[in-house]
Amino acid sequence: MQTGGECDTLRALMEIVLATRNKKKVEEIRRIAVGLPITILSLDDFPDCPEVVEDQNTFEGNATKKAREIARCSGKPSLSDDSGLAVDALGGKPGVFSARYAPDAADGNDPKNYEKLLRDLEGISGERRSARFVCCIALAFPEGEVRTFFGFAEGKIGHAPRGERGFGYDPVFVPEGFDRTFAEMAPQEKDVLSHRGKAIEKLSEYLHFFAKH
Ligand code: IMP
Repeated sequence: MQTGGECDTLRALMEIVLATRNKKKVEEIRRIAVGLPITILSLDDFPDCPEVVEDQNTFEGNATKKAREIARCSGKPSLSDDSGLAVDALGGKPGVFSARYAPDAADGNDPKNYEKLLRDLEGISGERRSARFVCCIALAFPEGEVRTFFGFAEGKIGHAPRGERGFGYDPVFVPEGFDRTFAEMAPQEKDVLSHRGKAIEKLSEYLHFFAKH
């Protein structure tokens, strides 16, 4: 059920502020969002918006918090994504701590994170290396409503890093049905399989629905 504020804002299509300063993610979301009835603005267009602390213990909690705060301070709908890697043999870790799994990692792109993951999985073989990337996208409206969209990419953690593309854990993540890592795939190939691609696909269906009604 859509509320009045949500409909009005969507019909006035539509500038959306991306609530992230991660340039790789902005690049990836812009690329996937080509063709959607939206214009994507970045946080650089709103220098006064604060840095939002990701201190929630779920992807949904963090995505919702970031999108809400940026929508409030920019006065425009805001889109935020929180994502990470959940490894079954580690009880779902690194999860919401993916960007800072290794204590000395500089950021979420630091190879130290996947190097720690490979060490933690030493001695664990085959099926027991199953994992999934999870992405929750939150779309928040200045009036306060929030919608969330989830995407998952199932796969396995390899035994050594392979490939130069992508970011974060891509060199050690082998998606289901493939024997190459995300870092060995062309960007468009990753987009179709990725958690973020799938969550954006759901967002896209939602936005197209509103563009037509
Ligand atoms: P956040 O969503 O910015 O909090 O960061 C999540 C972290 O999860 C990133 O910094 C990466 O380390 C990891 N991550 C999320 N999505 C991907 C992906 O598509 N490939 C590789 N690593 C990812």
